[in-house]
Amino acid sequence: MLFSRNIPVWVLGISSIFNVVLAAEQRGTIVYPDTLSTQSSNDKGSKSCFTLSESNPTVTLDYGTEVGGFPQFQAKSISAPVQIEAKYTEAKNGLENASGDGPWTFSNGLANTFRVETFNVTEPGHIESYFIQGGLRWQKLRLLNAKGSVRICGAGVRSLNDRTSVDTLPGYFKSSNSSYNEIWALGPRTVQQACIEKGAAPSTWEITRDGVLLRGQQSAQSVLGTTFTNYTMSFMTKIIRGGTGWRIANGLLGFGPSFVLTSDYSSESAFINTNKTLLPANKLAAAYGWNLVNQTSLEGGPVSYYSLPFNVKEGQWIQISTTIKSTGYDVSINNTLAIHVPLSALQPTYNYIGSAADEFSGTWGFGPYQDQVALVKDVEVHAKNGSLLYHNPMTGTSVLEEYGVMPNKHSVCLDGAKRDRLVWSGDFGHTSRIIAASTYREDFNNGTLAYLLDRQMTSGEFAGYFSMSPSMGQSSKYTSTYNSVGLEDYQMLFLNAFARYYLDFADKDFLEKYWSQVKTGVKAILSLVDSSSGLASGYFFLGAANGTAASSLLVYTLNHMAIIADNVGEVDTSAHWKSVAASVSKAINKKLWSSKLGTYGISTASLNETSIAGTAWAILADVGNSTQAESAIAALSTLRNGIGYKTLSTSEASAELSPFISGFLLEALLKHSRNSTESSPATTAAISTLLSRFWPAMITNDEYYTGTSWEYIFPDGRPGLDLYTSHAHPWGAAPTYVLTEYVLGIQSTAPGFSEWVFQPAVLTPGVSWTNGRVPTPHGSIEASWKLSKDAKEIDLNVCSPRGTKGTVRLPFAVKSAKVNGEKSVTSTGGFKLDVSAGECWEIVLTLVKAL
Ligand SMILES: *[C@@H]1O[C@H](CO)[C@@H](O)[C@H](O)[C@H]1NC(C)=O
Ligand SMILES: *[C@@H]1O[C@H](CO)[C@@H](O)[C@H](O)[C@H]1NC(C)=O
Ligand SMILES: *[C@@H]1O[C@H](CO)[C@@H](O)[C@H](O)[C@H]1NC(C)=O
Ligand SMILES: *[C@@H]1O[C@H](CO)[C@@H](O)[C@H](O)[C@H]1NC(C)=O
Ligand SMILES: *[C@@H]1O[C@H](CO)[C@@H](O)[C@H](O)[C@H]1NC(C)=O
Ligand SMILES: *[C@@H]1O[C@H](CO)[C@@H](O)[C@H](O)[C@H]1NC(C)=O
Ligand SMILES: *[C@@H]1O[C@H](CO)[C@@H](O)[C@H](O)[C@H]1NC(C)=O
Ligand SMILES: *[C@@H]1O[C@H](CO)[C@@H](O)[C@H](O)[C@H]1NC(C)=O
Ligand SMILES: *[C@@H]1O[C@H](CO)[C@@H](O)[C@H](O)[C@H]1NC(C)=O
Ligand SMILES: *[C@@H]1O[C@H](CO)[C@@H](O)[C@H](O)[C@H]1NC(C)=O
Ligand SMILES: *[C@@H]1O[C@H](CO)[C@@H](O)[C@H](O)[C@H]1NC(C)=O
Ligand SMILES: *[C@@H]1O[C@H](CO)[C@@H](O)[C@H](O)[C@H]1NC(C)=O
Repeated sequence: MLFSRNIPVWVLGISSIFNVVLAAEQRGTIVYPDTLSTQSSNDKGSKSCFTLSESNPTVTLDYGTEVGGFPQFQAKSISAPVQIEAKYTEAKNGLENASGDGPWTFSNGLANTFRVETFNVTEPGHIESYFIQGGLRWQKLRLLNAKGSVRICGAGVRSLNDRTSVDTLPGYFKSSNSSYNEIWALGPRTVQQACIEKGAAPSTWEITRDGVLLRGQQSAQSVLGTTFTNYTMSFMTKIIRGGTGWRIANGLLGFGPSFVLTSDYSSESAFINTNKTLLPANKLAAAYGWNLVNQTSLEGGPVSYYSLPFNVKEGQWIQISTTIKSTGYDVSINNTLAIHVPLSALQPTYNYIGSAADEFSGTWGFGPYQDQVALVKDVEVHAKNGSLLYHNPMTGTSVLEEYGVMPNKHSVCLDGAKRDRLVWSGDFGHTSRIIAASTYREDFNNGTLAYLLDRQMTSGEFAGYFSMSPSMGQSSKYTSTYNSVGLEDYQMLFLNAFARYYLDFADKDFLEKYWSQVKTGVKAILSLVDSSSGLASGYFFLGAANGTAASSLLVYTLNHMAIIADNVGEVDTSAHWKSVAASVSKAINKKLWSSKLGTYGISTASLNETSIAGTAWAILADVGNSTQAESAIAALSTLRNGIGYKTLSTSEASAELSPFISGFLLEALLKHSRNSTESSPATTAAISTLLSRFWPAMITNDEYYTGTSWEYIFPDGRPGLDLYTSHAHPWGAAPTYVLTEYVLGIQSTAPGFSEWVFQPAVLTPGVSWTNGRVPTPHGSIEASWKLSKDAKEIDLNVCSPRGTKGTVRLPFAVKSAKVNGEKSVTSTGGFKLDVSAGECWEIVLTLVKAL
């Protein structure tokens, strides 16, 4: 069993290793590639076999769209023991890089940090990676031995994620525009891979009676050491392959000094592809930052190397201790050799997110480098005066909780499939709505909400706030230690996801269970209102303090939460929140509307600049009137850049464009368009920019295509942040729910769709008909509409379940209407009809004026 998970057989000699993740090991479905290409063949047969040999050393596997799970294959026959390198990537060009599209140096997301791993195949049998690869489309297998050959069958990914085809999901959307249909499909495929069911992600640490067995991965840190200073941390370690790695004086997320001790790479156990420049044999490597290597936007200091006067043998216990000194860190091995690693060699920085306060303080952690394996036990921390501050034999399962690497026991949605694999609260604002419109996995919606609700700060400056980005393996017990709050608009986006869950699913028990906590959360964001400006003041992702974006989002959130307060019968609470919202709204119009720009300024401090987040949220929160909305939409033309819109008027021309914020903008544009009696060139241009230029970048280029939505995009249409970009980021898939709610036009207007509206944005450019299905707790609502060629007639159809009440609504003046074949009353102020549920309705409208 362990052998099959890529550990040398002799490790089995360790007294009874028990595997805490056994249950997950048998489960899942094997996803096979669509195509297998070797030098000599290009095979469509997904399960077919191939031989890697000297003359044909590599094979490329293409899964067609994103998949995540445990890479595995069957070695059918081997000439002699061989080593096979596997490389993974989302974008195809990652296959060309030595380290694939990784490594992921920002977190240990219960998955492999590295995108390259090596399998030691010594006999025929099942080979499976110990780690999950979070998300990939492409894989390459390479025979490393100069001689020899191996026959491989059934290469694939054992996945515990859903890959149900998009057309058979509870939610459905089709339209006359095939490109829109493909864009819609990005959302469900993304949440299928970025949401992780409880029990589907085992711990990346393995507890044995001989200590914790660690395979090469980003280190995980003890939650107990954040307040420690000037200490000595010592531990026993046995290198099983390659080396062992640790940290001291680190921020809890693993930013700070890091150390790797390499073995002598005794020939029989060394991997041929070990990077001996990065990690030479018999050395202490020391660095500062997230990792030994730099990764896009996550840079650290240089790596310095220290020679050892002896061979570091594998399979022997050695004692390592590291002492924090005023000038650096002293590393001793077996209580004798002391290497001084001076601070000057590490070039540390302390003002960085994730860093400890200074070079003397912060916690410790463990994690060997790529493909290395080591045991760690008997960790001790002593104060400068010698007193014992901490001792852990590292043999009990409580280790997993302390180091934040528990198996995942909650169904949660992550920000991305491959990275950061953190439960980011702000991203969930988009994610939860994509799920409601497509996969309808209620367990992911309430699971993610519960995960974050269970992590609320109870005291201090941020009392009432919910964790912003906890990782899967992390315990709620240590919420205040992880202290992950930071972005204050993420609190608002999260509260909106809570409100939305009730409107979509009407889960009363859930609402009751968490209502008092949520009220505390709302109270906390009320204090963002600056008494002097009347605007939202704080630290926001979407824009500056005293600015349009965050202040409008606050208005939106308070009004949205007021609906929930009304539902629990707390009319005073509701009235209070609405009145604060009204006063902030007034302040925005008074202080942030720039008649010169014809739109809202970014903030009181930069009234002459504008942002897409400000425009989006001002419209979504109904801050201005429709004349102002139209004017703000026209002013978007000044933000055009490449295939989309830049985030701020001050953004560099080369800066990444944001699908996350463009998603809010898309909803705002359709909200405006849906209520308009005639099309406006500015609104049409803006919607077309997003739907016919911006989002199509994710579906048109096979080099980058994953069938899932991206985190960032460069103005020329390439994925932003280069290979590091997540290609399965739900925050980039807003079109899924926007197309369902506005273009198909079905939206919940009372909890659980007990009331709903069918109000399609018929003026949407590029589309003449749609049909679709919207899941609700009462059953599905099926709807379609079609605009005649002369744009004078609209044919609407809707069937809905019993127990609900629907309203069909369109803003246009109607000349004549037929409802189920019978003539009906018409009005020039738009069309409105209440339709009873449990029946199907056909409505044919002849308009006064062609659209
Ligand atoms: C590969 O497995 C063989 C047999 O178990 C073992 O002797 C060798 O050390 C292993 N090599 C590596 C790199 O793990
Ligand atoms: C090995 O590491 C060095 C130093 O970080 C790096 O420059 C080089 O590209 C790496 N080579 C491979 C094949 O990964
Ligand atoms: C990472 O970047 C920093 C700053 O540019 C540089 O000093 C350091 O040498 C780089 N580290 C590696 C391993 O290349
Ligand atoms: C450290 O000590 C252990 C015995 O306690 C010995 O087996 C091992 O070889 C020593 N390692 C080094 C590098 O001195
Ligand atoms: C830790 O040591 C440094 C220098 O050695 C000293 O400046 C600092 O005050 C010490 N911190 C504590 C909390 O003792
Ligand atoms: C979430 O919804 C699922 C499906 O309806 C239900 O089984 C589960 O108990 C709910 N979980 C929570 C935390 O409310
Ligand atoms: C917001 O504006 C008010 C009034 O001008 C000012 O006192 C406050 O410092 C501003 N807040 C921030 C974070 O700049
Ligand atoms: C806005 O005003 C500031 C100075 O107040 C100036 O530096 C900046 O260039 C102006 N921006 C635009 C877009 O005019
Ligand atoms: C919209 O608001 C602007 C700015 O307050 C005002 O000048 C205008 O008259 C309003 N238009 C309508 C139609 O209410
Ligand atoms: C949108 O249209 C509805 C009627 O269809 C109307 O009641 C409402 O005031 C309009 N909203 C805006 C912002 O124009
Ligand atoms: C990938 O490799 C190419 C060429 O080796 C290099 O130019 C590029 O910077 C690499 N990309 C990333 C994201 O590492
Ligand atoms: C889809 O809509 C866009 C406009 O947003 C248009 O350019 C494109 O031609 C349409 N495609 C199809 C297949 O109708």
